[in-house]
Amino acid sequence: MSGLSVMKRSRLLRGNCLSDLFKRGRGRQFGDGTCARILGIETSCDDTGIAIVDGAGRILGDALHSQQSTHLQYGGIIPPVARELHRKNITDVCERALREANLRVRDVDAIAVTVMPGLALSLMIGRSFGQYLSKIGNKPLIPIHHMEAHALTARMSEKVDFPFLVLLISGGHCMLALVKDVADFYLLGTSVDDAPGEALDKTARRLKMRNLPEYADKNGGAAIELAASKATDPFQFEFPAPMTHYRDCSFSFSGLKNSADRMILKMERGHDVLGDGVIPDLENFCAAFQLCVAKHIGHRTKRAMMFLDRRELLPQDKKTLVVSGGVACNNFIARSLQTICSEMGYRFVRPPPKFCMDNGIMIAWNGIERWNADVGVLRDPIEIEKLEFQSRAPLGIDWTDVVRGDDIPCRTIRSKELYP
Ligand code: KG4
Ligand code: ZN
Repeated sequence: MSGLSVMKRSRLLRGNCLSDLFKRGRGRQFGDGTCARILGIETSCDDTGIAIVDGAGRILGDALHSQQSTHLQYGGIIPPVARELHRKNITDVCERALREANLRVRDVDAIAVTVMPGLALSLMIGRSFGQYLSKIGNKPLIPIHHMEAHALTARMSEKVDFPFLVLLISGGHCMLALVKDVADFYLLGTSVDDAPGEALDKTARRLKMRNLPEYADKNGGAAIELAASKATDPFQFEFPAPMTHYRDCSFSFSGLKNSADRMILKMERGHDVLGDGVIPDLENFCAAFQLCVAKHIGHRTKRAMMFLDRRELLPQDKKTLVVSGGVACNNFIARSLQTICSEMGYRFVRPPPKFCMDNGIMIAWNGIERWNADVGVLRDPIEIEKLEFQSRAPLGIDWTDVVRGDDIPCRTIRSKELYP
């Protein structure tokens, strides 16, 4: 980070925090080699997040700068704008996290940084900052896959043993995977077009929900969830269920979003809704849209469970579904998945909503997991300097054709199952 002032650089390195840390009763295991401390950096999309987490899953310091309000004004993420905001804020975010932890860069064991997948311009800032910290602190660097980090976050606060099924639902991704180990993932299904968060965000924008004060500061998914909670008749509108004839675990949300667009236009015309106006029955519309998203996600997840059961890939007495990613914050979708878990004999695990969203904590924790397993820890300064980022990166080994080949029948989820 050539742009860092000498003052900021020395602030990152200085500090008298270690004694304070001991006074607070944390870090007791420091120095005995059993409890590593990793600083994690996340900049793959529109959040600048940095945190320091230790091997016991304690969050020693955590800071986040969200770009949401800026992107809401532009109506979407503009990559060069995201890059500039990451560049502008990353040093302060890092200082805040270190200050809260009462630590300096030299006190952590390694730096973990998201290098894939994500927006190239955003990833670049985090990657370069990670390289910079690794250099000034003479620390190993751990490159992190953003989706692997989402998948493993649950293990920070709850006992979740390998192997388990993970469902990752966010603004950029939608995937089901079998997680056999820290760096051993098998992709069972992914979206053929949009991610669910993208469909929710675009539909909320099309509904002009920002014009209503109660939704103005919310992301699309949270706005639709809130509106849906006020619905009087969630069955007033009906959306076609996507991909019912495909016996696999693929997802599709663009058809759903297009149906929503068409229905909104029709209602706007029918009710003379002009300019910034919002359709009548907004709450019922949101509830029906959310219901269709939940049914689709639930249906594909249920087939993934059937696939794993059939092939005995999870221990029968210990089957777990972990769900994470921003859309996992949605309580209606979470409850729907819980219903399916009960039916299929799975334990349902969702990290606290704050950890489902993008943050530095999940990256630091993935760093801890990799550090403990000693996988993918870069120690050679030349290798660290050459580290590339990748805007596209598959998650693990692709088993989507294996799942499709099994041709497992699975009936769709009925609305009444989710709205009993
Ligand atoms: O994981 P995340 O923070 O960033 C990505 O990697 O995409 O997820 C952001 C997405 C956004 O699309 C947002 O609309 C969605 O998560 N989201 C929600 C809720 N809160 C955030 N979707 C549905 N219900 C929510 N309560
Ligand atoms: Zn994410």
